[in-house]
Amino acid sequence: MAEEKKKVTTIGVLTSGGDAPGMNAAIRAVVRRALGKGLKVYGIYRGYDGLMEEDVKEMHAQDVSDTIQRGGTILYTARCAEMRTPEGQKKAAETCRKFGIDGLVVIGGDGSYRGAQTLAHQGINVVGLPGTIDLDISCTEYTIGFDTSVNTAMEAIDKVRDTSTSHERCSIIEVMGRNAGYLALWCGIANGAEDILLPEKYDYDEQKIIDNIIDSRRRGKKHHIIVNAEGVGHSASMARRIEAATGIETRATILGHMQRGGSPTAKDRVYATIMGSMAVDLLIAGKTERVVGYKNGKFQDFDIDEALAMTKGIDEYEYEIALAMSGGYQKETQKKVIRDESL
Ligand code: F6P
Repeated sequence: MAEEKKKVTTIGVLTSGGDAPGMNAAIRAVVRRALGKGLKVYGIYRGYDGLMEEDVKEMHAQDVSDTIQRGGTILYTARCAEMRTPEGQKKAAETCRKFGIDGLVVIGGDGSYRGAQTLAHQGINVVGLPGTIDLDISCTEYTIGFDTSVNTAMEAIDKVRDTSTSHERCSIIEVMGRNAGYLALWCGIANGAEDILLPEKYDYDEQKIIDNIIDSRRRGKKHHIIVNAEGVGHSASMARRIEAATGIETRATILGHMQRGGSPTAKDRVYATIMGSMAVDLLIAGKTERVVGYKNGKFQDFDIDEALAMTKGIDEYEYEIALAMSGGYQKETQKKVIRDESL
């Protein structure tokens, strides 16, 4: 006779890595969905650090009241070095067992899923939710926080553009994203940037940018907005070199952590709520080592191993459109590539 699957009775939830707007909506959904299904719920504080230090508290429905509209994470977050060691992983599983946590929802990015996997190998059922402003998780076209972050950055860039135009300057605005260029690409399109520098695409030929600035100034343009991704970086030194080469005053603005804060957009609240509920439903259905994603217009779950093995690049068509709109130096490069291909 097939062994009967042990029913999950107690869910733990934690947020790990960089915080992202909408994480609270996801926590709230996990708590309320689990309680509604008759399960016990524990909140684990400061990511995996909470499992090392047994900073674990039972959560009730009212603990997540008045949180859906708040940025940050009510459970706090951390990047836990100990979770990368076998001792730390053992301790984390022991804490789960001590509190009777047999199902764990981990809200974070790829690194957080790797930690979750080690717990799964020790018998704890785990489900990951994509929580990061970077949109750099391969199995999903949506990550919790990206929508809010890109809107925050877009509004900030609009403001920089006002002053940049008044002073007839060139402005380099650096947006977050670690090694991924999605935030920069979206801001580049949404803000109508003249140049968009993405780690996945940039060829580090600054002369092309300089030529483009001089050319657009000759055509009468009063501003020149360059959206630069954190993965390319060096905005301040780039600004100094561009100013020296063009004679046009150039300023660098690094938006920084403001992109991670603020009240989540409706999309982040709603998608995080659906994903949080789905994580609980998956655990109740006896699933483990899954990551919830949004792909091809549907919320779906993926095997953690497969999700981690997938690679994600910038969508070529989206990038091509961005170049076509920007009139940046890359547009010429792109034209050349297309011409060469047609030979
Ligand atoms: O992963 C989110 C993110 O904001 C990245 O875009 C950025 O590279 C990193 O976190 C910054 O980390 P910290 O908050 O540790 O400075």
